[in-house]
Amino acid sequence: MNLHTCLRQAEADLIRAQVETPSQTARWLWLCATGVQTHEMLMALGNEAKPDDMSAFARLVQRRCAREPLQYITQQADFCGLTFYVDERVLIPRPETELAVQTTLAQIRRQKSAGKRGVRIVDVGTGSGAIAIAVAVALDKEGDRTTAIVGVDISAAALEVAKQNAQRHGVADRVRFGLGDYLTDYDAGRFGSIDIVVSNPPYIPEGQREWLQPEVARFEPPQALFAGADGLDAYRAIIRQATVLIATDGSLVFEVGAGQAGAVRDLLGAFVDRARVSVLADGRGIDRVVAAELGSEFIANG
Ligand SMILES: C[S@@+](CC[C@H](N)C(=O)[O-])C[C@H]1O[C@@H](n2cnc3c(N)ncnc32)[C@H](O)[C@@H]1O
Repeated sequence: MNLHTCLRQAEADLIRAQVETPSQTARWLWLCATGVQTHEMLMALGNEAKPDDMSAFARLVQRRCAREPLQYITQQADFCGLTFYVDERVLIPRPETELAVQTTLAQIRRQKSAGKRGVRIVDVGTGSGAIAIAVAVALDKEGDRTTAIVGVDISAAALEVAKQNAQRHGVADRVRFGLGDYLTDYDAGRFGSIDIVVSNPPYIPEGQREWLQPEVARFEPPQALFAGADGLDAYRAIIRQATVLIATDGSLVFEVGAGQAGAVRDLLGAFVDRARVSVLADGRGIDRVVAAELGSEFIANG
């Protein structure tokens, strides 16, 4: 069978499995199965496909037809212009999370321009390390060597992936990773108070499990997704813990699910008085990040 027919058959299987962008997906899977470059594949469309390549390709097509995410099959995901290693141990980093990275960088600049040296950041629920590592890479490019970054996760398996990604992007020396239940194990006596807490925590309400796409529900780690009946349990825990660990002029940066910004803003209001809270929308106009600047006069109610 020639390569063109082979791709068309795979495309038909992917359409039957209701996979999005079936034609493009078939091509990506061929590249992944054979390791050839796009131009080599295009030049070979009329050639007979090798049996070994065809069986490797068929295995990948079968996995995608079972709705395994493409990123787990190819073991890579693009985020903030960087390619992260991913597998089923971690949530696949999403484009909308780039806003949390940009907001964190803006908060670092704000604190530094107010005279702070040595800003300390904790990325709570770091997963693949996406936020912590993207921030570290951006700071390296700016020549900032003083900001300290820690990524925390409750999953030891996720932290192995995060460490691998930190190595891959040359920031293993400046991002440290620790196992912990949100901020409960953060040792402020040893490390000092936190200047910025950033988190893209689990935020899907338990009841929405059955409405999720199969890619998410069947393959992504449940502890990365669900956070109680209203999806707000993680925010409650992190905000409560953060108020006693954060510097008086610190910042909190949360990614929120669609429709959750108001509730998270209210939660912040219940725990901290006199914080400046802003809500930022992502590229699709969805309120996606809630950020609180505490200011020196903030009062913790926690
Ligand atoms: C939505 S994922 C975010 C992963 C990554 N930060 C990103 O943006 O792609 C949430 C992460 O929080 C972690 N997590 C869940 N419960 C936790 C807890 N109690 N303490 C620390 N991390 C937790 C999960 O293991 C998962 O890696």
